[in-house]
Amino acid sequence: MQTITSVAELRRILEKCRSSDQQIGFVPTMGYLHDGHLALIAASQAKCDVTVVSIFVNPTQFGPNEDLSRYPRDFLRDEELCRGQGVAILFAPDAHEAYPSDFETFVEPGDLAKPLCGAFRPGHFRGVATIVCKLFNMVQPDIAFFGQKDFQQCAIVRRMVVDLNLPIEIVIVPTVREQDGLAMSSRNRYLSDEERQQALAISRGLSAALDEFRSGERHVEKLIAVAKKHLKAVDRLEYLELVDSDTLKSADSPLRRPSALCAAAYVGSTRLIDNVILTLP
Ligand code: PAJ
Repeated sequence: MQTITSVAELRRILEKCRSSDQQIGFVPTMGYLHDGHLALIAASQAKCDVTVVSIFVNPTQFGPNEDLSRYPRDFLRDEELCRGQGVAILFAPDAHEAYPSDFETFVEPGDLAKPLCGAFRPGHFRGVATIVCKLFNMVQPDIAFFGQKDFQQCAIVRRMVVDLNLPIEIVIVPTVREQDGLAMSSRNRYLSDEERQQALAISRGLSAALDEFRSGERHVEKLIAVAKKHLKAVDRLEYLELVDSDTLKSADSPLRRPSALCAAAYVGSTRLIDNVILTLP
C-alpha cells in the first residue's frame, strides 16, 4: 500500500492503473475507521481492481460550533486497517493543497440539502458536496462507495454526479451496526458507557417502526409514533421524519413509494444519526 499526500503523485500512480485498464474504486472517509468504513472498502475490493481510500477531516462541512477540532483521529491505526484490507492507495491530502488560502469555489446542493440534517447543519452539505467533488476530480475513480448511514449525503452525491456530469458510478452500502443494533460511527467513541446504552434508543426505535412496516403498517403517523416511543430516551431528538427516498420530502400517508425513516438525536453532547429504508413489496 502507498500512502500519498500530494495530488500530483496520486495522479501519476493512478495514470498507470488507468492505462492498464484497471478499474479504480474510491472510498472517501474522514478516518478513525470502523467496520462501516471497512464494509465500503470490501465492496470496492470486490468490484474494482484498485481501491483508493481517502482520509481527510474536511473543515468546510463542520459548523463553527461543531466538533472539527476534537474529531477523532488515529492515522497510524487507519493505515494498518487499510493495509490489512489490501487497499492499494491511502490518500491523505495535504490540507493546504485541498484548500489553498485563496479558495473560493463551492458546490452548492439544492433542495435535497434543505430538510433533515440540512435544516440543523447550515452549510454542511455544501461542504460535503464541495470536498466530494474535489476528491472525485483528484482521484477520478470509476466507482465510488458511500454508506447508507448517511442517507441524505448519498442522495446529494448521487444528484451531484448527475447534475455535474461526473462519469462516476455511485454504490451505496448498507449500514453496518454493532451487535446490539447501534449504527457504527466514528462519533460513538464520544459516548460514555451510560450514553452508549441510551443511544440504543435510536436504532431500536427505527427498527421497531421497520417491523411495523413489514407487518403491513403504511400510515406515516403510526410508524413515527412507534419509533418515538423508544426515542423518548434520548436527551434531545433533533428530527424523526419519514421521507420519500428520492426527493427527501415528507412521505405521503399511506406510503406508496420507497421511503426512509431518518432520525438525528443528541445523547449527552454527541449528535448521532441513523435511518431505515422502507421498501414496498
Ligand atoms: P465518514 O463519516 O468518515 O464516512 C465515510 C463513509 O463511510 C461515508 O460514506 C459513510 O456513510 C460511511 N459510513 C459511516 N458509518 C457507516 C456505517 N455504520 N455503515 C456503513 N457505512 C458507513 O461521510 C463522511 O465521512 C464525509 O462526509 C465524506 C463523505 C468523507 C466527505 O468529507
